[in-house]
Amino acid sequence: MKNYMRKKTIDPSHHQSSKLRKELKTVDLILLGLGAMVGTGIFVITGTTAANNAGPSLIISFVIAAFSCALSALCYAEFASRIPTSGGAYSYAYSIFGEIIGWMTAWLVICEYLLAIASVGSGWSGYVHGFLEGMGIHFPLALKASYNVANGTYVDIIAILITLVVTYVVMQGAKKALRLNNIMVIVKFSLIVIFLLVGIFYVAPDNWTPFAPFGVKGITTGAAIVFFAFLGFDAVSTAAEEVKNPQRDIPRGIIGSLVIATALYIAVTLVLTGMVPYTNLNVKDPVAFAMRFVGHDFVAGIISVGAILTLLTVMISMMYGLTRMVYVIGRDGLLPKTLSVVDEKTKTPKNATIAIGIVSAILSGIIPLEKLAELTSIVTLMAFAIMAAGIIKLRKDFGEPKINEFKVPLVPIFPIISMLVCFYLMTQLGMATWIAFGIWVVAGLLIYFLYGYKHSELGK
Ligand code: ALA
Repeated sequence: MKNYMRKKTIDPSHHQSSKLRKELKTVDLILLGLGAMVGTGIFVITGTTAANNAGPSLIISFVIAAFSCALSALCYAEFASRIPTSGGAYSYAYSIFGEIIGWMTAWLVICEYLLAIASVGSGWSGYVHGFLEGMGIHFPLALKASYNVANGTYVDIIAILITLVVTYVVMQGAKKALRLNNIMVIVKFSLIVIFLLVGIFYVAPDNWTPFAPFGVKGITTGAAIVFFAFLGFDAVSTAAEEVKNPQRDIPRGIIGSLVIATALYIAVTLVLTGMVPYTNLNVKDPVAFAMRFVGHDFVAGIISVGAILTLLTVMISMMYGLTRMVYVIGRDGLLPKTLSVVDEKTKTPKNATIAIGIVSAILSGIIPLEKLAELTSIVTLMAFAIMAAGIIKLRKDFGEPKINEFKVPLVPIFPIISMLVCFYLMTQLGMATWIAFGIWVVAGLLIYFLYGYKHSELGK
């Protein structure tokens, strides 16, 4: 038993000896967080959730989801400033709870990121097909969407291609990949600001009544669903080894990006549900739709094209985060060592990036991912709950943070509330999701016992 619980030592000097190039600053990290977060959640899911689950009270759902994420963000921030090493949640759990929990946390986060990358890839393909068809270009049906014999579709070629392109971009080095990311994040924000500035003139307060047509249950289910929109702020913590001053900059990056995203989401939800009666919002492109609804077809067009571009930032940021985590896991021996090879020229984990690129390309091309969106939320909620428990353990074993380190207020009260909120949101998800979750956990345990346990560097 003791072997499964062996712990990585917390060694801040490790940060200096890392082979990755240290070139990121607070601004890069905030943009990395926003790049990962602001995507399908706000551009697609807001509409369907307002129509089917929460109505105008979707705004309360966003506040609940943001509250839960804020508590987790505080925990991530303290970890990041006290254990400044790449690998995010995986590395923290490994140092605090030991190997098996560290690995299982990693396994949950791998699921979160792979599915998020793949689902954004297939969402992207949907937008592009719409766009191409508008220009009269039609793909053969079999190659248009993921495997679904009943519909006559087999593989989504565009989703596969875009995932491979993103893989190539991520292989070009942190600064280059993130520079492209930063530009697109700025485009994304400009679009949202245009939407808010134009939309606000069309808000009809009557649309906000009835405020909560589906009652409390609608609000809480809505919160569990729009939780998806916040996924990604944790990607910031995986970057530690490429940051000049991780102790200071990672907490700023995490909390900064979360605060900005929350403000934005709440504003968009208010304007959206104010412009269009919620019953009309069951569409794939609610933000552009709302503009068409009030007769601004041109603005709607800009928003659609922009959405096509900006969904890519979610893929870049998440793939970036996942490759850095898998690189560290390979270095620790829990996955094959070859994943930790660093490319001489670009100083990026080449093999980890290629492996993740291929797996996510296959997933996005073949599996119908809409069904797996809830799985993404449940694994993330579990990982967040582990992080909250980790803060309590961190304080118990290593005491209070030092003066220059980030400190979660009111421990253990905040972490306990965080765990309760995470568990509560998990209970709002369906039975099929829980079964898939169980299967994923068992698969992770098998990999650990058949491979990781024997090859672990700590074990040697
Ligand atoms: N938060 C990301 C999105 O909404 C996953 O697309």
